[in-house]
Amino acid sequence: MAEDLYISAGTKEEKYRALLPQIEGLLAGEDDLTANLANVTAALKETFGFFWVGFYLVKGGELVLAPFQGPVACTRIRKGRGVCGSAWQEGRTLVVPDVDAFPGHIACSSLSRSEIVVPLLDGGEVWGVLDVDSDCLNSFDDTDARFLEEVCARLRPYR
Ligand code: SME
Repeated sequence: MAEDLYISAGTKEEKYRALLPQIEGLLAGEDDLTANLANVTAALKETFGFFWVGFYLVKGGELVLAPFQGPVACTRIRKGRGVCGSAWQEGRTLVVPDVDAFPGHIACSSLSRSEIVVPLLDGGEVWGVLDVDSDCLNSFDDTDARFLEEVCARLRPYR
């Protein structure tokens, strides 16, 4: 398996379109969940330069920090708390253009300005979330939601 990532020079959508099959390639060669979450965070960080990107997994009734790239982060989040806990509770992707306007936002970093959280779904069950933070306002939109949901769907076989 080649470990070099090709990054499209085009639009955000073109970058995602180039990235998705490469993520599929990375996942196809490995069945360990931690290894796969680690490579997905690295591939997203390398492609988009996100301020913070990583996973929280549902363990013992809480979200617990899992592989990520970026500054150190809070380790445990309860259901319904913050953007991550809300995405878990609601079982849907949350795009937050301004974290200061989101009631209960958990500021792991004071530099975080906008955020997207995508649930990891297995049927109707949420088994974790993918969280991406930006240090700029309004960084995420439907394109991010659509493609990050595609990425998360490809992780279900490894849970
Ligand atoms: N801001 C998140 C907490 C996780 S950190 O951003 C990495 C939240 O409100 O759930």
